[in-house]
Amino acid sequence: MKEIVLSGIRSTGNLHIGNYFGALRNFIRMQDTSNCFFFIADLHSLTTHPDPENFHKNVKTVLAEYLASGLDPEKSVIFVQSTVPEVSELYTLMNMWSYVGELERTSSFKEKVRKHPNNVNAGLLTYPVLMATDILIHKAHKVPVGKDQEQHLEMSRVFARRFNNMYNVEFFPEPAAYNFGTDLVKVPGLDGSGKMGKSEGNGIYLTDDEKTVHRKVMRAVTDSGPVNPDAPMSEPVQNLFTILQIVSDGEVVRFYEEKYKSGGIRYGDMKKQLAEDICKITLPIRERILEIQGNDKYLDEVVKYGAEKARASASKTLAGVKEIMGFKWF
Ligand code: TYM
Repeated sequence: MKEIVLSGIRSTGNLHIGNYFGALRNFIRMQDTSNCFFFIADLHSLTTHPDPENFHKNVKTVLAEYLASGLDPEKSVIFVQSTVPEVSELYTLMNMWSYVGELERTSSFKEKVRKHPNNVNAGLLTYPVLMATDILIHKAHKVPVGKDQEQHLEMSRVFARRFNNMYNVEFFPEPAAYNFGTDLVKVPGLDGSGKMGKSEGNGIYLTDDEKTVHRKVMRAVTDSGPVNPDAPMSEPVQNLFTILQIVSDGEVVRFYEEKYKSGGIRYGDMKKQLAEDICKITLPIRERILEIQGNDKYLDEVVKYGAEKARASASKTLAGVKEIMGFKWF
């Protein structure tokens, strides 16, 4: 049997290069060899209460960005979470073997409570349960994600194991967070600290034009230059090097590392190179996004086609779970 790979993204805004390099690019590389599912987590995006018009628009935008990045509906099952009602049913069942204590201890939940104390809804608390449902309902083995999702993947494994132990079955495989060949990636933001995020305003988007990419990179926070080459690099500069390592050739990275060590680095030159290397990857994708975005008919077809295939896989798992749990009279 081919391994099953699944990945997803919340439909809360345009894709940035963190999403692309952290998850999407890895997934795209696996389309030819694995049984792949990719979906848009529109139910997850409801925790922030988007207005109905934006809720719908965001799903279409993200779908166009996926397709433009190289996801192929013939090779992968591409679908929208809410078009698979089996997910909501399994989520209800999964809540019965997830504990409030462990959910309250999740880092992402604690961060949301700190940042948005006026909107601590139950959907936020059970966010990892819904995410585990997304993964387990297709019995995924590998889940390409960025480093920020590591804890959620660990929880998915706990829920899978708990179900198997509780009912003494080998039903769910334990899913692993995955990056093609290396450790999970955290793409930093351009503001000097933390990760690139949709709500942080520190990102480069796949839809940014050349001028915007250059402007954003040139404004990225640095420091006043290496004081002592043996001292640890400041966080903002380390972040720029991290992005350079992700988007540029090894030779380019080595060149700037040497310059840094010898004290002769000019951050302006390095940023210019970085912006050019980012553009080489994102501008062709941007062109395709603009093309696909206007084609509502095509996008509708992709969603319907994906929903059918995703439901076939999800309903099989759900039926299995219900039988194990004792719903046999249906
Ligand atoms: P989301 O929408 O925040 O991000 C989508 C994917 O992009 C990765 N990512 C990053 N990777 C590296 N560096 C960054 N700065 C960066 N920012 C985002 C994320 O790790 C993720 O892989 N809860 C998920 C969506 C989801 C999901 C799932 C993912 C719901 N169910 C099941 C996988 C499997 C989320 O909010 O991702």
